[in-house]
Amino acid sequence: MKKTIQKVLAIETSCDDTSVAIVDLNRHVLCMRQASQDDVHAPFGGVVPEIASRNHSYHLLPLIERCLEQARLGWPDIDGVAVTNRPGLVGSLLVGIITAKTLAMTQNLPLIGINHLEGHIYAPFLQDEKYTSPEPEYPFLALAVSGGHSSLYRVEEFGKYHILGQTIDDAAGEAFDKFAKMMGLGYPGGVLVDRNSQGGDVARYNFPRALQKDESYNFSFSGLKTSAQRLLTEISEKEKQDHLSDLCASYQQAIVDALLNKLEKAIDSEKPSTVVITGGVSANSALRAQSEELAHKKGVQLLVPPLRFCTDNAAMIGLAGLMRFNQNEFSEQSMSPSPRPLPNDFLN
Ligand code: KG4
Ligand code: ZN
Repeated sequence: MKKTIQKVLAIETSCDDTSVAIVDLNRHVLCMRQASQDDVHAPFGGVVPEIASRNHSYHLLPLIERCLEQARLGWPDIDGVAVTNRPGLVGSLLVGIITAKTLAMTQNLPLIGINHLEGHIYAPFLQDEKYTSPEPEYPFLALAVSGGHSSLYRVEEFGKYHILGQTIDDAAGEAFDKFAKMMGLGYPGGVLVDRNSQGGDVARYNFPRALQKDESYNFSFSGLKTSAQRLLTEISEKEKQDHLSDLCASYQQAIVDALLNKLEKAIDSEKPSTVVITGGVSANSALRAQSEELAHKKGVQLLVPPLRFCTDNAAMIGLAGLMRFNQNEFSEQSMSPSPRPLPNDFLN
């Protein structure tokens, strides 16, 4: 008889955060341990791939040990190993994959490679002692906004994703990060723009909202970045300092408007009962507050994960892994990393 997979140990190393989690069949995160590399990449103003993979290799095994300890579990309690195998930085993915394969082989456990985006889409359905979430109700709309993606999906069932729209150039997170760099705020950018926007006037500077009249659900953020570059050459250093919060608030609002305008159109035509917003940018305070208002106005259930599940984390990979295992999907030991979604991938 087929064994139900009850508890999965998951590894996420697709970019610069090393994360390990154990998730159970109730979508409960039994523990999650992270090692952030923000401080080591900050002097370079962005992620340095070689440094990222080296740090994953330092952090990963101790994090796995601590995670098992914290959950008071041993290997006999674990039923499977899930790992992000795409998309991402190949060197970083490789550290997670080799570790996951070795653990699966030595502990005689099944292995599953997970598309990072599928993890993000299911992150709002995780649970822990401070956050409860309902079971997924299909179909639902998912706005996935991160450093590499800005996409709107209709999720028809687990594993079946219909892409409604996506960015035609930069991702929303990239737009935040580039602006933070231009403003000299540092790295990582999104959270710093968010922090500096508090109390700022969203209408003081007029930034473009691209493709708003366009029929599609696509996004474009490269014009916004160019417009900010131009503005910063036109204003004085003093104005930039005096109006830092207005600049951040106005720029942030342009991104939030662009995202929510398309989400509203999609809600009107798709009429979903549930909408999820997920990925690193879903940690943004303005996006969270204004999406709440939109959901209220439209009468839809909105799920946005708590901050710990918005940005990259292994818990979301564990949940997607559990769901794939329990529909009888397993990966081979020959599984390899891919910087991009695979050809014919279920998500891109
Ligand atoms: O999902 P994620 O952790 O990694 C990727 O899959 O890319 O997303 C990272 C992105 C970065 O661009 C970061 O600046 C952005 O999420 N981010 C934010 C906030 N926190 C993280 N953007 C806006 N406001 C935030 N509070
Ligand atoms: Zn991510």
